Amino acid sequence: MPEKPEFSFRQTLHMRRNFIGKSCKLHFEAAPLKISRASRQYLYDDTGQEYLDCINNTSHVGHCHPHVVGAGQEQMAKLCCSSGFLNEQASLYAKHLVSTLPESLCVCFFLSSGSEANDLALRLAASFTKKKDVLCFDGAYHGNLATLVEISPIRYKRLGTAHQQKEWVHIAPTPNTFRGKFDASSENPGLLYANETIKVIEKAHRNGREIGAFISEHVISASGMVVPPENYFSIIYRYVREQGGICIADEVQCGLGRCGEQYWGFQLHNVVPDIVTIGKPIGNGYPLAAVITTKEIADSLGDFSSTFGGNPVACAVGRAVLEVIDNEKLVSSAKNVGKCLKDGFKAIQHKHPMMGDVRGVGMLIGVELVMDKESMKPAKEAAEILTYKMKERKIILGFEGKDKNVIVLSPPLCFTTDNARSVVQNFSEVLTNIETEAASVGLTSLDNVGSNNSDNVTIDVITDQPTISIHAFSDEDDEEDEESAAKRARYEEVD
Ligand SMILES: Cc1ncc(COP(=O)(O)O)c(C=O)c1O
Repeated sequence: MPEKPEFSFRQTLHMRRNFIGKSCKLHFEAAPLKISRASRQYLYDDTGQEYLDCINNTSHVGHCHPHVVGAGQEQMAKLCCSSGFLNEQASLYAKHLVSTLPESLCVCFFLSSGSEANDLALRLAASFTKKKDVLCFDGAYHGNLATLVEISPIRYKRLGTAHQQKEWVHIAPTPNTFRGKFDASSENPGLLYANETIKVIEKAHRNGREIGAFISEHVISASGMVVPPENYFSIIYRYVREQGGICIADEVQCGLGRCGEQYWGFQLHNVVPDIVTIGKPIGNGYPLAAVITTKEIADSLGDFSSTFGGNPVACAVGRAVLEVIDNEKLVSSAKNVGKCLKDGFKAIQHKHPMMGDVRGVGMLIGVELVMDKESMKPAKEAAEILTYKMKERKIILGFEGKDKNVIVLSPPLCFTTDNARSVVQNFSEVLTNIETEAASVGLTSLDNVGSNNSDNVTIDVITDQPTISIHAFSDEDDEEDEESAAKRARYEEVD
């Protein structure tokens, strides 16, 4: 039995809801989990219940890996200061990191979050090219700083606010061969999408603007693990450079071996960026991020300092993470286990009318849910329901994409083939129930189900025993139903 916690679930939730911003969402907002500890690919809640973690890519080599914890503890007890002094941890870490990258990428800057890294990358690009404009995908998310919100259209568009695209931002269509203008059966979809992007750049030129940087993920995670088609990046990298711009690879999600086989996502596409940004996984949960670039670009920046970026503890942790990746052969494991996971989903796809697409590489997998394979209408509600139902089965999944209808998996790399099989089997059973229930409420054609409305997910926050239903969306749903009133009442009780 776990130790009795100082604060109960209710008290913790109560304090959070009183003192932490409402916009800071919890996973499973209607029935959150209080996670007390974690180990390898497992999370444990306050009752000691174990959950299989399929989403914590920050815990890259496994939650609380003893080698990483030990390195952090040891350095913390020795020295943890701001980054202005000479210390071998930062130098050794930079040397190791650079050894994993192509030769031209040889200078590091350390920071504490992926957002800071992307912000610095934009500054570097502007100081080197003397051009401030940025090209990004419409399905991109690059971070939470003011500049990055502007180049994260998927986020600001979802908010539905009257957000004005800034004049320095140029948005290219996400090269998505499942849902975009050109599908996988098109001849050379990479070229077709590249031509669309070139049109965006040409339009910018006609308006008197010049692109300083093209920033992209090479597996577009926020769009639900979209892998752009072959040739796309090589054409766009060449074009952007010919026009005097540079290319930034945001590897915050897909870097450090997660794609399997190779260390970096851009290597899937045979291109070499001018700047690489990394974050999330490199500290295995400890705040650490980096920008790595060429000497010429690095030297173009005037002054730079970060109080915590590159502090000895962060760098000791970062070094330990790289060591574990090598020692435990986690890159090849990402490839093999990732293949097992993706093949497993592919194998059940034919028997599920709602499984529109299975995609991704290595341990970055997306399963796009649709109302049916003909209309391909996004099954927004089903994706959320599925994650709650999987949680009942003690498996934690996420959902992403423009319409939030893509189930995403990016687990710690110690995930096993047994874990993969268990996820696929449970997923299949849960999705069958959802499909059956959708049909049983008279949805002969499933596309009557309404828009993303979390009130359709009825969850008991206190007992944590969700009863989830799909029902056809109607005007009456705008009025408060009995179930949502009950849910609100429970919240009030907690308050
Ligand atoms: C692709 C990508 N870039 C940048 C970021 C921002 O990283 P952070 O939240 O550490 O600032 C994220 C975070 O989700 C991300 O997914």
